This record gives sequence, C-alpha cells and structure tokens, in this order.
Amino acid sequence: MQNPPRVGFAGLGLMGGRMARHFITKGFPLAVWNRTPERGQPLVALGAKMAKTPRELAEVSDVVVTCVADPNAVGRIVFPDDGVRAAARPGFRYVETSTISPGLARRIAEVMRSKGADMLEAPVTGSKIGAEKGTLLVMAGGSKEVEQELMPVLSAFAAKVIHCGDIGQASTVKLIGNTIISFMLEGFCEGLVLGRKSGVSLETILEVVMASGFASPYYSFKGAAIAKRDFETHFSVDLLVKDQNLMLEEAHANKVPMPGLASIREVFQSARAQGWGEEDIAAVVKALEKSAGLEQEPRA
Ligand SMILES: NC(=O)c1ccc[n+]([C@@H]2O[C@H](COP(=O)([O-])OP(=O)(O)OC[C@H]3O[C@@H](n4cnc5c(N)ncnc54)[C@H](OP(=O)(O)O)[C@@H]3O)[C@@H](O)[C@H]2O)c1
Repeated sequence: MQNPPRVGFAGLGLMGGRMARHFITKGFPLAVWNRTPERGQPLVALGAKMAKTPRELAEVSDVVVTCVADPNAVGRIVFPDDGVRAAARPGFRYVETSTISPGLARRIAEVMRSKGADMLEAPVTGSKIGAEKGTLLVMAGGSKEVEQELMPVLSAFAAKVIHCGDIGQASTVKLIGNTIISFMLEGFCEGLVLGRKSGVSLETILEVVMASGFASPYYSFKGAAIAKRDFETHFSVDLLVKDQNLMLEEAHANKVPMPGLASIREVFQSARAQGWGEEDIAAVVKALEKSAGLEQEPRA
C-alpha cells in the first residue's frame, strides 16, 4: 500500500460527502463513486477522480471507504459484477462505515478474505457536524492489525476509534447506540408535547433538563432545533427507522424482547406516514403533537 494510500470513497450523501472531503484536504489521492454522479462534482472540482462503477473505484484505490444509506445500498456496491468484490485482491482493504446488520458485515468480510483482501467494520457517530469537522467516533470491528494499518485513513474523518471486537460487533454496538438515541428522543419529545399542552415552555423544560443529572448534549442540540421548528436533516427519520428495524431483527434472532423499541419504532413510522421521513429525527415531535391534537407551529 502506498503512503498515503489511494482512497476510494463510495456514497456522497450527508455524511459521505463531508467525510470524503477530508481526504483531499489531508493530501490523500481520492477517487469517488456515487449512485447519483452529480453529487460528486464538488469533490471533482477539488481534485478527486470520478469512478464509473464501484469496481472501477476499487481498481484505482488501495482502500475503499463506503458510507451509504442501508444494507441494500451496501449490497449494490459490494456484490455485483461491477462491484468492489470484483476488484478485491491481496492487500486491498474495504472499510464499511454505513450502519448495517452484523450479518451483512460478516458476509462482506468473508468475501474480501476469500480474495486475500480484508475488511474493517467502522460505523460512525457524530452526525453531519462531526463529519464536517472530521471529529467522528468510529466503532471498529475486525482484526486489530488491519485497524492499526488503517488508522491514518480513519483519522482523516474521525477523532477517536474504539475497538469493539470481531466483525459484526461494531455494528451491534452502533445499533445499541441508535436504540438509546431512539429512547432519549422519544422520552424528550413526549415530555415536550405534554409541556406544551400544560403551558410549560420548551425553554423551561430544557433549562431544568440541562441543569440536572439527566442532562445530555443531545437534548440541547435537538431541543434548540425543535424550539426553532428547524427540522433540516442531520440524520433522517427514514434512516433511524432503518436502524430500529435492524436492531429489532437482531433482537428477534437472539430471542431478546425489546418492547420499548418496538413501540417507539411505531411512533417514528407515523412520522414517515405524515411525509416527514426525510426530515431530521427531531421531526418525531410533530407526530406526537399531531396525535395529541396540537396544531403544527411554523418555523421561527
Ligand atoms: N446522518 C447521520 O447523522 C449519520 C450518523 C452516523 C451514521 N449514519 C449512517 O451513515 C450512512 C449514510 O447516512 P447519510 O445521513 O449520509 O445518508 P444520506 O444523506 O441519505 O445519503 C445516502 C447515500 O446512500 C446512497 N444510496 C442510497 N441508496 C442507494 C443504492 N440503492 N445504491 C447505491 N447508493 C445508494 C445515496 O446515493 P444518492 O446520492 O444517489 O441518493 C447517498 O450517497 C447510513 O448508513 C446512516 O445510517 C448517519
């Protein structure tokens, strides 16, 4: 592998577009691929090459980093004849940062290893602001040697890497994190809706929450957005429901009851049913307001 390695980045959405940019500013040769190629133009203007297929991306790269919506999208990038698998070779490395099922991560690792290549599972947290600043947290799964080898690549977009275990275990930890976020947001928004009906302001609730033992930067971040009725997407309702479904499938496979998450998923589904699936996950408050008979307030 040359130093710095040639990086190929697949998936230039809210997260991927921001993560990929760091490779240019930090001096890595960069090629990109996105299903909708126009989204790669800003990076091409900065010097990135545009690959026609994920296979071509892998052919011109030592390491391919992927950040796409869901397991379906990852499958499209890895498995077809024009996918990354077709170009995997001894020494090639594949880094999966999308949130997917542990089972899919293990399947990709098997495919890579069968060709003398290897994979690091590297789901991230830190939202689009962390992606923009290059301060994401990576949950790493796979061999520690491969993780060390790839540290310069991970460090381009992450401030911290936590080794979670073998392939599959990092995805499990990521899904646990998004389960916790689901509960936090649901509890917070249910409280805000009751507060609104009872005449207690959001600002008062937030002030008490943030001064107390149950404070979290998450509440000030989402609370400030809800106060402004600003539902611009950082992480979409659609993608959180995707993760809730992945978690519930894991729970089913492992015979783990998750009654809380199963109920919360239905509230987020009702937000999707209202047409708010592409909005930020804070838009779940609108679904709760609607079922409480409250009018939607305009954006401040
Ligand atoms: N947003 C966050 O705060 C956050 C934080 C941590 C982890 N994540 C995870 O990171 C991943 C990306 O999230 P995001 O917020 O960046 O999502 P996003 O803005 O919706 O971008 C999704 C990306 O996936 C691509 N894609 C979707 N379906 C595809 C398919 N069938 N084949 C090929 N490409 C496909 C899209 O391509 P097009 O441009 O062609 O649509 C786009 O590049 C997800 O797994 C998400 O769960 C997100």
